[in-house]
Amino acid sequence: MRNAPLLVLDDLGTESATPWAQEKLYQIFNYRYNARLATIITTNQELESIEIRIQSRMVDPSLVQIIHIAAPDFRRAGVDQEQSDLSSLNLHRDKTFETFDLRQGELPRAQADNLRRALETAQEFAQHPQDWLVFNSMGYGNGKTHLAAAIANYVSNQGEPVLFIMVPDLLDHLRATFNPNSGLRLDKRFDEVKTAPLLVLDDLGTESATAWAREKLYQLFNYRYNAHLPTVITTATPIDEIDPRLATRMLDGSRCTFFLLEVPSYRGGIKPKRRRSNRSG
Ligand SMILES: Nc1ncnc2c1ncn2[C@@H]1O[C@H](COP(=O)(O)OP(=O)(O)OP(=O)(O)O)[C@@H](O)[C@H]1O
Ligand SMILES: [Mg+2]
Repeated sequence: MRNAPLLVLDDLGTESATPWAQEKLYQIFNYRYNARLATIITTNQELESIEIRIQSRMVDPSLVQIIHIAAPDFRRAGVDQEQSDLSSLNLHRDKTFETFDLRQGELPRAQADNLRRALETAQEFAQHPQDWLVFNSMGYGNGKTHLAAAIANYVSNQGEPVLFIMVPDLLDHLRATFNPNSGLRLDKRFDEVKTAPLLVLDDLGTESATAWAREKLYQLFNYRYNAHLPTVITTATPIDEIDPRLATRMLDGSRCTFFLLEVPSYRGGIKPKRRRSNRSG
């Protein structure tokens, strides 16, 4: 193995690493590294989790090319749109732009205009996801999640990756990865969310906010804010009740479109009862 003109090492990092095995592996790497022998390595481990002496040889740019493959699992192709197990978009497949009702005839003019602008804003964002979009409202059930999911479904149908997640679920997932048996390191899981090409955070403000959770959310917001990463946020919490470190970023008009939905809860096309007219006596 040390001298093979071309060696392919498939699935590095899944071996049970006894000190003896580590030592042998290191010897192979070290020998081939010094001799500059052609070697192909595949791994799904983070570089940082590979043994340090092997890792330092693997990152030498004079000898090594690292290619990250971002494609989804081929074995699952066609089964479903590739979804992170964090994503709950599957629960919202019916929430699309086409199924969004402008509620004309039901709503007064100003509210109908507000709803139409909300839809247009969401559609524009879906076509060119860029920076942040927040849907906020005073009440509940008025279409925030519907619009956010419609964006996510649109982008996902274009074949682009989307992570749609409820904020309380996100924090649960992150807490679960503290469990030493979970197999996934916390920072890897967190990175998946931090760097998602499009992230939808549904229902910000309902999470139970321990200091730890607040810190994690802040880190997430700060990273995506600095990196201008496309992010859609829904929240029914008044902005002045949201952690100010998050709120200031959401209110930065140069990075974020803050949309206040001013329509009442959706009644599925049922018109509200009219007040009895005074004219009839
Ligand atoms: N304009 C609309 N057209 C079609 N369906 C709508 C519309 N607005 C809301 N709905 C539907 O009403 C239900 C509640 O809407 P949604 O979940 O988007 O509310 P929300 O604003 O996210 O509420 P909450 O603040 O409670 O999370 C969903 O089933 C949604 O599909
Ligand atoms: Mg909602």
